[in-house]
Amino acid sequence: MPSRDEGIALLRRVSSRRSTPPRHLTVPGPTDDEIRMLVRAAARAPDHLHLKPFRFQVIAPDMRESLADVFEAAERELDPAMTGEKLERARKKAHHAPVLLAVISRVQENDAVPEIEQRASAGAALGYVLLGADLLGYGAMAVSGRRLTTRAMRSAFGLAGNEELLCFVGIGTAAKGRGEPPEPDPDLLQTWPPITGQTI
Ligand SMILES: Cc1cc2nc3c(=O)[nH]c(=O)nc-3n(C[C@H](O)[C@H](O)[C@H](O)COP(=O)(O)O)c2cc1C
Repeated sequence: MPSRDEGIALLRRVSSRRSTPPRHLTVPGPTDDEIRMLVRAAARAPDHLHLKPFRFQVIAPDMRESLADVFEAAERELDPAMTGEKLERARKKAHHAPVLLAVISRVQENDAVPEIEQRASAGAALGYVLLGADLLGYGAMAVSGRRLTTRAMRSAFGLAGNEELLCFVGIGTAAKGRGEPPEPDPDLLQTWPPITGQTI
């Protein structure tokens, strides 16, 4: 159990997290043990009735070229006329970041746990992975794009009918710092019932 001072230091760290685009992530990336630590943290995301509304797939390091093939197939599916440079750009993204983690959201029919709660749970799990990566000293970023919904991607990731690819998380060593994050919106926290102009 961290002391309160350690807790405050951790919270400061959480409050200053920034994303690093995958193209700016270099080696070293997290080790297998570290990836397992991140997924363990994600497993502590709030999860009503423990429905496990998310799962992860780590892209095998020697399968990036196969992932590039899938990205290309996905782009062709979205735009059969796509050629050359654009396809090459899509393929390249499969090679960014030393570690790529696919985040899969899974919604089950449940009277007590509506869809919004299950999606929120997957979002929280993603957040824990990003925070965990930051705490281990890595840069990371969630990335998505229209290609995630294609048949090519769904088939490559073996998604069941109630599953969706939420995003990929690129994790690695940040080649350059991102600076301080913007100040949170002052309206982020308000009292209820609302008192005009008052923030905490
Ligand atoms: C599920 C999910 C998918 C995202 N996909 C993209 C994306 O494809 N491209 C992008 O620029 N940002 C994407 N973002 C936002 C970035 O991950 C990041 O949060 C944003 O650039 C703000 O940077 P910051 O985290 O440093 O504030 C996504 C965020 C989430 C939660």
